[in-house]
Amino acid sequence: MTLRENLEAAIRSIPDYPKPGVVFRDITTMLGDARAFRRSVDELVHPYAGTKIDKIAGVEARGFILGGAMSHQLSAGFVPIRKKGKLPHETVRIAYSLEYGVDEMEMHKDAVKTGERIILVDDLIATGGTAEGAVKLLQQMGAEVIAACFVIDLPDLGGRKRIEALGVPVRTLVEFEGG
Ligand code: PRP
Ligand code: MG
Repeated sequence: MTLRENLEAAIRSIPDYPKPGVVFRDITTMLGDARAFRRSVDELVHPYAGTKIDKIAGVEARGFILGGAMSHQLSAGFVPIRKKGKLPHETVRIAYSLEYGVDEMEMHKDAVKTGERIILVDDLIATGGTAEGAVKLLQQMGAEVIAACFVIDLPDLGGRKRIEALGVPVRTLVEFEGG
């Protein structure tokens, strides 16, 4: 079974969640499947084995799970990017667009240093608003964002192009149609 087939089977699709017409792609079933989880993390880190990656930046909440595993495997640090108001020290903050309206995310001011090589990770890219905010935050702090990685791409929503427009290559493991 290819990784793609493995993920298509292991990711649960929940119709009409969180609202009618939306199919929620739930990675908790993939995380609970030891083989699918390991293969996904292996594939996400594969291109960077033997290269210098300083830190993985993970987007709250599911990006933390993948990012922690990737950090361990690459012997890299981990940077949490969180919804506003959760981090205890001085932060930098950025507004980002959601499907309806805007929210803010932040990270600690001292979490990355100029020139550090960072990989961004989250479970899924849809419109790309979340990842765009995270990449901008990292770039503002002088980080070199080597790539943005996601298990799931919803290509119909066009997120990939928004991230590539920031000069950051996008890597995804499986695509699902629709939003
Ligand atoms: C989901 C998903 C991504 C984001 C992708 O998170 O986990 O982070 O949406 O959407 P976008 O590409 O259109 O920005 P959500 O905002 O539901 O929050 P959560 O991960 O904290 O549950
Ligand atoms: Mg999220």
